[in-house]
Amino acid sequence: MNLPADRLLLFGATGDLAQRMLLPSLCALDADGLLDNDLKIVATARSEMSTRDYRDFARAALEKYLPDHRRGGVAEFLNRLSYVPVDATTREGYDALATEVGAYDKGLAIFLSTAPSLFEPTIEGLVHAGLAQGNVRIGLEKPLGTDLASSEEINDAVAKAFSEDRIFRIDHYLGKETVQNLLALRFANMLFEPVWNATYIDHVQITVAETVGLESRVAYYDDSGALRDMVQNHMLQLLALVAMEPPTSFDATAVRDEKVKVLRALRPIAREETVTGQYRAGAVEGTAVPGYDQELGKDSDTETFVALKAHVDNWRWKGVPFYLRTGKRLPERVTEIVVQFRCVPHSIFEGRGASTKPNRLVIGIQPEENVQLSMMAKVPGLDRDGIRLRQIPLDIAMPDAFSGTVRRIAYERLLLDLIEGDQTLFVRRDEVEAQWEWIDAIRTLWEREDIKPKAYGAGSWGPSAAIALAERDGVSWHDE
Ligand code: BG6
Repeated sequence: MNLPADRLLLFGATGDLAQRMLLPSLCALDADGLLDNDLKIVATARSEMSTRDYRDFARAALEKYLPDHRRGGVAEFLNRLSYVPVDATTREGYDALATEVGAYDKGLAIFLSTAPSLFEPTIEGLVHAGLAQGNVRIGLEKPLGTDLASSEEINDAVAKAFSEDRIFRIDHYLGKETVQNLLALRFANMLFEPVWNATYIDHVQITVAETVGLESRVAYYDDSGALRDMVQNHMLQLLALVAMEPPTSFDATAVRDEKVKVLRALRPIAREETVTGQYRAGAVEGTAVPGYDQELGKDSDTETFVALKAHVDNWRWKGVPFYLRTGKRLPERVTEIVVQFRCVPHSIFEGRGASTKPNRLVIGIQPEENVQLSMMAKVPGLDRDGIRLRQIPLDIAMPDAFSGTVRRIAYERLLLDLIEGDQTLFVRRDEVEAQWEWIDAIRTLWEREDIKPKAYGAGSWGPSAAIALAERDGVSWHDE
């Protein structure tokens, strides 16, 4: 049984993620009394600064990124922080770091949010400083490699010092409330599971659309592209949660055992099942924006959009396509899963002039958290000219259904789980490697077939070929 750690060590503590997500999340958890009184947070990064400087830095980040209504307790939170500069590539800083961390009776949780090239030397430094013993667990932020080989290398390096039950690979989508709600929907209701299969489901769509462009991550993104940045991790995790068999319990082993079976059952993508795109200048939400290569300052073949038609080769999903698409500079920010059911086998209303449409379940993950089931209903009336049926939604808006509860960002939950040692919402090594294997095969296909991204205007839903990918099968993307 894990005890909540009494030390938290943040690598990459001056980075963008720390400012935007980690510090605000920790401060909010603290203000809500969810951090132990004796939890001390040691921050580290390469920059030379004192604890006092770092507290000022953290205060500025909190002022910028903590929503107004969660600003309580900042001063108390800052008192938990101390800072030790470490150049992760040399051994020197680690002894000072170990001294600052001091004794941790209950456990030490480490959060590594640094460039992947620093993972290996950091692990060695931790071992050298005695910061990798049995009650130390380590959280790893993406990117965990750029392909299967580099990911194995990182995993091997971490495994030399930490057993798998102490490694917490982060995919922040798993910390999102509605993503977990998908499990509640599937496995806490009798209604869906009996029809959650190829007999009743026509296809599934998963969309992760963003309006942002490159932001400040020019070098990272251009080396990565949408396939590795979004599909390899977040989208495949969503797919696994939609497609997995019911786990026997909501615990780390049971859930991850089922997810990995899905990931291993993914059929390699064929030539005609993939479309890539790169945005050109256009307008997003009414604002003119430059094209990708203009933002980048050079020509590039990196894809900012991917659409795929995937298949899970098992009994449950035989013949059910999973259409996936993600992109930057799309018309709106939306993450959703659409489960399209089949038509009724025989419509008794046809002879009376009414047509039926198949049911559709839309699980909105962001920005709206909602679940919408479209149903057929009769339009009221005496029907002298025939029966009229219309599709109407059964609509659950989560914020309304649960008003008064705090909506927490993904990192609050994930940091707390790391501190407390619960691995259920973290990705296991075999999952990451199955994800990479499938992604690597797609990249090999692109190279072999010389598939280059097609242009799409910023503010559109990607290249027209992405629409054709679905329409060839008589499927329309859910774009409203
Ligand atoms: C990150 C990607 O993992 O997820 C980013 O690197 C992307 O490119 C981000 O913008 C999206 O996260 P969210 O939570 O805003 O959907």
